[in-house]
Amino acid sequence: MVEAPLRVAIAGAGMVARLHLDAARRAGAYVVGVCASTPERGKLAAERFGLARAFETAEQLAVSDEVDVVHVCTPNDSHVRLAELALRAGKHVVCEKPLAPAAGEADALVRLARESGLIAAVPFVYRYHPMAVEARERVRGGYTGEVRLIHGHYLQDWLSRPGDNNWRVDPRLGGPSRAFADIGSHWCDLVEWVTGHRISELIAETQTVLPTRFGSGRQTFSDGASRRGPQRGPRRGPHSAGARVTTEDAVQVLLRTDRGASGALTVSQVSPGRKNRLWFEIDGAEASLAFDQENPESLFAGSRAGNARLLRDAALLSPEAARLSVLPPGHPMGYADCFAGFVADVYAAVRAEAAPHVPVFPTFADAARTVRLTEAVLLSARSRSWIEV
Ligand SMILES: NC(=O)c1ccc[n+]([C@@H]2O[C@H](COP(=O)([O-])OP(=O)(O)OC[C@H]3O[C@@H](n4cnc5c(N)ncnc54)[C@H](O)[C@@H]3O)[C@@H](O)[C@H]2O)c1
Repeated sequence: MVEAPLRVAIAGAGMVARLHLDAARRAGAYVVGVCASTPERGKLAAERFGLARAFETAEQLAVSDEVDVVHVCTPNDSHVRLAELALRAGKHVVCEKPLAPAAGEADALVRLARESGLIAAVPFVYRYHPMAVEARERVRGGYTGEVRLIHGHYLQDWLSRPGDNNWRVDPRLGGPSRAFADIGSHWCDLVEWVTGHRISELIAETQTVLPTRFGSGRQTFSDGASRRGPQRGPRRGPHSAGARVTTEDAVQVLLRTDRGASGALTVSQVSPGRKNRLWFEIDGAEASLAFDQENPESLFAGSRAGNARLLRDAALLSPEAARLSVLPPGHPMGYADCFAGFVADVYAAVRAEAAPHVPVFPTFADAARTVRLTEAVLLSARSRSWIEV
């Protein structure tokens, strides 16, 4: 007998909602509906996404009897509230990061999810790049030897000009940390998962290089405004007088892990020319591995005996990496495929399929850990001292 498809709904209709929608469809779910910041915008989004239903509010969507899985793709300030509503209504939840603005709230959600027995996942999707998985399998299999150094960066440029603005800049919507919570959290989740090390101590410096923003340039990292040339004059709007910025544009972190490695991380949303450069390197006693999210079809593998660029080819990869390698070699996979792999695993867990790989996907507990790391970064920067995590 053919099983009825899972019924899912998506709160939010922006850049990431589109990825969730496509991934849900690829996983064979029935997407019931969507909502946005107003009922009118929700209707337009439903039309754009080809969905029959627009929910008037995210709250209605989160508790709807028609829905099995709720995807929370709204700005950060609503994540805790919507995830809690959905879990209490018996829904499985996929909630975007950052899960919460503070570790206490994230921990409460982790407890609620555990007690409910429902699936509660967070899209730290870079875990789903096959070559990142290959790096993890090689570290686990002893290829690198003992891991000594973990270093890298996550750089973007979409907030590098004074006119660039977005809800993420406002701490009431984005939370107390911006660059680190938004993208540094991804890097930390990924390197901890790949290495099996946990960051146990860190010292951080935060920088707000643009203390005032005007809102005349790029409003999201996916729009095409202010493509080139000098900044245009401020356009009228809520920020035309210039809004004072309190969240960080960039962060430097030195770190130590629970298994004796050390490392360094630079996070920035103001690095011209860098679009979404998540890059990490793991230096072990025998070999080093480096992964670049913008060139995810290969993995650098270096040793004293010689260096290689390993290409994604399921026939040559570990079974875990081969499982996610859904296109033939030479047919580039990317970010959207990570979402598809992630959502497929989450839905398999929802259906309680006994897949041996489940759960590879990051859960609320993993997300709570990144919230704790974010708090440590902010505390360290304020106190100018090492902080134990
Ligand atoms: N996991 C990832 O790789 C990844 C990537 C991008 C964004 N994100 C996360 O996804 C979330 C959304 O980011 P985005 O880039 O899509 O933002 P966006 O600005 O493109 O979209 C936000 C959407 O939320 C809707 N919205 C705002 N308030 C709402 C409300 N009260 N009720 C219902 N809808 C509301 C808006 O109408 C808009 O459609 C953020 O938390 C962000 O951190 C995660």
